[in-house]
Amino acid sequence: MLPLSTTRDFAMRQPHVLVLPFPAQGHIKPMLCLAELLCQAGLRVTFLNTHHSHRRLNNLQDLSTRFPTLHFESVSDGLPEDHPRNLVHFMHLVHSIKNVTKPLLRDLLTSLSLKTDIPPVSCIIADGILSFAIDVAEELQITVIIFRTISSCCLWSYLCVPKLIQQGELQFSDSDMGQKVSSVPEMKGSLRLHDRPYSFGLKQLEDPNFQFFVSETQAMTRASAVIFNTFDSLEAPVLSQMIPLLPKVYTIGPLHALRKARLGDLSQHSSFNGNLREADHNCITWLDSQPLRSVVYVSFGSHVVLTSEELLEFWHGLVNSGKRFLWVLRPDIIAGEKDHNQIIAREPDLGTKEKGLLVDWAPQEEVLAHPSVGGFLTHCGWNSTLESMVAGVPMLCWPKLPDQLVNSSCVSEVWKIGLDLKDMCDRSTVEKMVRALMEDRREEVMRSVDGISKLARESVSHGGSSSSNLEMLIQELET
Ligand code: UDX
Repeated sequence: MLPLSTTRDFAMRQPHVLVLPFPAQGHIKPMLCLAELLCQAGLRVTFLNTHHSHRRLNNLQDLSTRFPTLHFESVSDGLPEDHPRNLVHFMHLVHSIKNVTKPLLRDLLTSLSLKTDIPPVSCIIADGILSFAIDVAEELQITVIIFRTISSCCLWSYLCVPKLIQQGELQFSDSDMGQKVSSVPEMKGSLRLHDRPYSFGLKQLEDPNFQFFVSETQAMTRASAVIFNTFDSLEAPVLSQMIPLLPKVYTIGPLHALRKARLGDLSQHSSFNGNLREADHNCITWLDSQPLRSVVYVSFGSHVVLTSEELLEFWHGLVNSGKRFLWVLRPDIIAGEKDHNQIIAREPDLGTKEKGLLVDWAPQEEVLAHPSVGGFLTHCGWNSTLESMVAGVPMLCWPKLPDQLVNSSCVSEVWKIGLDLKDMCDRSTVEKMVRALMEDRREEVMRSVDGISKLARESVSHGGSSSSNLEMLIQELET
C-alpha cells in the first residue's frame, strides 16, 4: 500500500478539467458524455452547470454515483427561478450569464486553486457560445479549449459570413430566399439563402442574435484547441477548409456513440443520461409490439415551438399517411403555452389509438435504436441528427433554427440520408413526404443511410478517427 503522502501527491498532480456547457439540453448532453470519457481516462472533471440546470439534472438522476473523479458544481445564471429561459428570451439569458456567471466562474476557479486536497484546474473546456470563459482563462493563465455543439457545416457557414457580406450575398429584405449561396466553399449548391445561419427572421446585419453567433465563432480562434462533435469521414470537405483557420481541432463525435463504445449502453444507466426532462419508458413497451421498421418517430427537440395550426397539420398529415407514429409533444411545445392535448382532442378520433402514441419526452437514443422504428421526423438538431445517423434511421427534416436549417440541407442534399420538408408542413405535404420516407423513396435513401451509419460506428471503434482523436486530446490534457 502506498503511503498517504504519496497518494496525495499523485492526486494533486492529476489533470483537472473544468467543463462549462451552455445551459440547454443539446449542449449539456454531449459535454457530459465528454466529461465521463475524460474521467474514465483518469482525469478529474468539474462539471459546472447553472443552478437551474443543475437542479433539473439532479432531480432526475443521482449525480454522485458514476465516477469518483466527476464533480458537479453550480453557479447562478442571474435570472429568477421562474424565468422561462426559452428561445424567446435567448439573448436575455446570454447577457445575464455573461454579466453574472463570468465573475462567478473566476471566483470558483480561484477558490479551487486554493484547496489543498484537489489539484487546481489545468484546463477549461468551454461551450463555443460562452466565449467569456476565454477571457477568464487568459486572465488566470489556464488553458482553454472550445467545444462546439453544432455541425462543422454550420460552423463553416458562420465563419464565411464576412465573405458573404463582401460578396453581397447577405441581403436581408428583397432576396429570393430559395436562391443558392455561392460564397461558402464546399457547400456551393447545397445551401439556400434561407439556410444560411440566422437568415430566418433576420432583418438586418446589426441583429443582436446574428452578431452574437458571428462574434462567438470568431472568438474560438483565441482558444488553444477546438472540439467538434462530428467525425472526419462525414464532414471532411468543410473540415479541410476550416482547419487552417483554427487552432488545433479534435473531431471526436458522435460523442454519444463514443461514450457507448467505451462505457456501455446508456439505457443500462438510465439514471444518468444527461437528460433535463424525464423520459417516458412506456413507449419502448409500445414499440416492442409494433412491426419491424413500421414506426415514424417524431420529435422537434428541446426548444422548437409549433403554432396550434402547425401542430394540427402535422397531426392530420401523420394520421392520413396511415403510418404508425411515436410523437414527442413536450408540454411547452405550443407557442403561447397552450395545451396541445386540448388542440388534438378537439379533432375527431382518426384511429390513432392503435397507430399513434404521444409522449412528453422519450428515451431518444433507445427509441432510434429500436427495430420497430423506420423513420425520424426531426427538427435536425445536431445531436438528433448524429443519433439518427448512428442508428441508421432515415430522416424527414423540418428545421426551424439556423443551425438546423444548415443540417437539414446537408442531410437531404449532401449526405442524402433523408428528405427535407422545405419549410412546408401542410397536411398533404406531410402525408406525401412521410409515405416517401417510409415507402416510395426508402430504398434510395437507405443506401446512403447504411453507408454513413457504418462510417459513424467505425469512427468511434478502436483505432477509428474519433477514438484516436480523443486519445490525442487526453494526452494534451495530461501534459
Ligand atoms: C439545439 C440545436 O438545434 C442543436 O443543433 C445544438 O447543437 C443544441 O441546441 P435541441 O433542440 O436541443 O438543439 O436538439 P438536439 O441537438 O437534437 O438535442 C436534443 C437532445 O435531446 C438529443 O440528444 C436527444 O436525444 C434528446 N431528446 C430529445 C431526448 O432524449 N428525448 C426526446 O424526447 C427528445
